[in-house]
Amino acid sequence: MHLLSASCVCALLIAALLRQVSGLETVTGLYGETLEIPCNVGALKAEDILMTKWKYDKGEGLSGDLLVKQKNQTVSISASDEYKDRVSMAANSSLLLSAAKLSDQRTFTCMVVASADITEYPVNVVIHKKPTNLEISDKAEELEIGKLTKLGTCVAEAANPAANITWLKNNKPLVADGKGISIQASVQVDPVTGLSTTSSVLEYSAGKEDTDAQFTCSTQHATGAELISTPVIFTITYSTENMVLQVIAQEPLVEGDNVTLKCVADGNPAPTSFNFHLKGELVKVENADTYTITNVSRDTTGEYKCSLIDNATMQASKDITVKYLDINLSPSGKIVKKAGETLDLTLQIDASGDSKVSWTKDNVKLDKEPKFSKVTYSDSGRYECGVTVGLLSRKASFELFVEGAPVIRQLTKQRGEDGTHKVLICEAEGSPKPAVSWSINGTSLDESPFVNGKITHKITVVPTANLTVSCTVSNEFGADTRAINVSSLFEDVRVDKSDQSDDNDQTKMVVGVVVGLLVATVVIGLAYWVYMKKSKQGSWKTGEKENGSSEEEKKLEEKVEENSQKAEV
Ligand SMILES: *[C@@H]1O[C@H](CO)[C@@H](O)[C@H](O)[C@H]1NC(C)=O
Ligand SMILES: *[C@@H]1O[C@H](CO)[C@@H](O)[C@H](O)[C@H]1NC(C)=O
Ligand SMILES: *[C@@H]1O[C@H](CO)[C@@H](O)[C@H](O)[C@H]1NC(C)=O
Ligand SMILES: *[C@@H]1O[C@H](CO)[C@@H](O)[C@H](O)[C@H]1NC(C)=O
Ligand SMILES: *[C@@H]1O[C@H](CO)[C@@H](O)[C@H](O)[C@H]1NC(C)=O
Repeated sequence: MHLLSASCVCALLIAALLRQVSGLETVTGLYGETLEIPCNVGALKAEDILMTKWKYDKGEGLSGDLLVKQKNQTVSISASDEYKDRVSMAANSSLLLSAAKLSDQRTFTCMVVASADITEYPVNVVIHKKPTNLEISDKAEELEIGKLTKLGTCVAEAANPAANITWLKNNKPLVADGKGISIQASVQVDPVTGLSTTSSVLEYSAGKEDTDAQFTCSTQHATGAELISTPVIFTITYSTENMVLQVIAQEPLVEGDNVTLKCVADGNPAPTSFNFHLKGELVKVENADTYTITNVSRDTTGEYKCSLIDNATMQASKDITVKYLDINLSPSGKIVKKAGETLDLTLQIDASGDSKVSWTKDNVKLDKEPKFSKVTYSDSGRYECGVTVGLLSRKASFELFVEGAPVIRQLTKQRGEDGTHKVLICEAEGSPKPAVSWSINGTSLDESPFVNGKITHKITVVPTANLTVSCTVSNEFGADTRAINVSSLFEDVRVDKSDQSDDNDQTKMVVGVVVGLLVATVVIGLAYWVYMKKSKQGSWKTGEKENGSSEEEKKLEEKVEENSQKAEV
C-alpha cells in the first residue's frame, strides 16, 4: 500500500515534472519590495482546491517548505529559515514575498491538490534593482584641446542586473572611436547584497566647440527606469593658435603722433605677457598686451612684431608707415620786383608719397605753376601753393609786387552821345599807382580801380577849337606823357574866329558837364543864330560830322591811333 502510494506519487510527480518543464514561468520582482508569485491554478475553482502548498528550490535537488493551506483552514507557515517572516499567501493562492533580495532569485513551486489531482506550478523568480544613484565623479579640472584627458567617472551604484552606462555630450551619445573618445566600464559586485556597481571612465579629447558643452551619463535599466546624471561643464583650454598685431593710430599717422601696438592672441587661458620687437629692439610687456610709441618720426616707419614669451615662433607682424610732407617754397613773404625782371620760383617737396601741387593767385585757381621770366604789373598778387600727399596737406605763399615807372598804353577819344562833348581816355600801367594829369581842365568822369597795375582815367571836354591834349602819368619811378589832337566841336565858330587862334587853348574850353551842357545849349543857340545869319549870307560850308563819317576825320583818327600804338611799342 505504501509502496503503491509511493509509486502513485512518483507517477504523479513525473506528470507534474512534465508540466513543470513545459510551463516554467518567470516573475520579476523589485529589490526590497513585496513580490507576488502567482500560483497559476488555471481552470481550477478555489472551492475545488483541497490544499495549496508553497516550497522553494534550495539547490542541489533539495527543496524547502514555505507554507501550507488546507481547505477551510488558515495558512500555516512551515518555513523555519529566513523566509519564516517574509512569506504569506493571498486569497488567490499567490505567494507574497516581502523585502525581495537577490538571493530570492530561484524557483518557487506551488503545489495544488484538488479532488483527485495534484499539480505543481514552478515559477522562476528574478529580482531587479535600478541603480540607487548615478553621478559623475573624478571630474577633470579643465580639458585641453586635442589632448585625450580623463573627463570623469560615471558611477551607477547598486543595481541588478549591472547598469549599462552611456556617456552623452549635449544629450547625444558618445561612442568610443579609439581616438578622441575612449570609454572603459567595470562592474563591482557587493559580496553581501550581490548588487552591482558599474563605473565608466570617459577619456575625451576636446575641441574648441566643447566650450559650454554639457556632459552627462545615463543608464537605461532593465526596470525601465532611465537615470541621468547632473550635467557637467568643463573649461576648455588651448594654447595660442592665432595672433594678430594691431596698430592703433590716427589716420594719417604723422610725425609727433603716438602709435599703440596691440598684440591680440587667442588661447584659453589667453597669454598675458608679450614680447614686442621694435625694429631690432626687444621689449617685454607683462600683464598687458599693448606698447605705445610716442612722438613718432619718419624713422619710425618699419616692420613691428609681437611674439609669445614662451613660444617665439608664435608671432605676428605689421608695418607702420609714418606719413610726412615738408615743403619749401622760395621765394616767400613779400617780393618786390621791377617790371621786366625775372623771378625764379622753386618748390621743394619732401614727402612719404606722391604729391599733388596746386596753385592759386589771389585765391583764384591757376592751371599750372606760375613762371616769371619777365614780371609784368599784372603778375602782382598773392601766390599760394597747396601740396597734398594722401590726407596730408601743406601750403606756402608769397606776395609779389611789381613796380616801375608808368607807361601810357592808350590815349583815345570818344565823341559824347549827344555830340556836345568829348571823352578822353588815358590808359596807363605802372606801380605804385600812378597819378594821372591832363594838360587841360576837364570834368573828371571817373577813374577806374587800380588793378593789376592798370589804371584808366577819363575826362569830359567840350573843345571850342582844335586842341592838342596831353595825358601825363607819374609815380615815384618816373612819368610818361602822350598827346592827342582833339578837333573843335564848334569848327564853324572857330573858322570865323580864326584870327583869334593864338588864344590860350584853355580859354577855348568850357568846363564841366553840367556847366558844359548849359554853355553848349547857349553856344548851340548862338551857333544856330550864326548859321541862320551865315546861310543868309550863303557862306555855309558842308558841315563835318564828328562821329567819324567824314573821310578826313577818319583818316586823322587812324593816324592818331597809329601814332599812339607806335608810342606804346
Ligand atoms: C491575486 O490577488 C492579489 C491580491 O490579493 C492580486 O493583486 C493579484 O493580481 C491576484 N493574482 C492573480 C493571478 O489573479
Ligand atoms: C618729438 O621728437 C622730435 C624729434 O624727433 C623732437 O624734436 C620733439 O621735441 C619731440 N617732441 C616731444 C613732445 O617729445
Ligand atoms: C583850370 O581851371 C582853374 C580854374 O578853374 C585854373 O585855376 C587852372 O589854372 C586851370 N588849369 C589849367 C591847366 O589851365
Ligand atoms: C581843325 O582841324 C580840322 C581837321 O580836323 C581842319 O580841317 C581845320 O582846318 C582845323 N582848324 C584850324 C583852325 O586849324
Ligand atoms: C596834331 O596836329 C599837329 C598839326 O596840327 C601835328 O603836327 C601833330 O603831329 C598832331 N599830333 C598827333 C598826336 O596826332
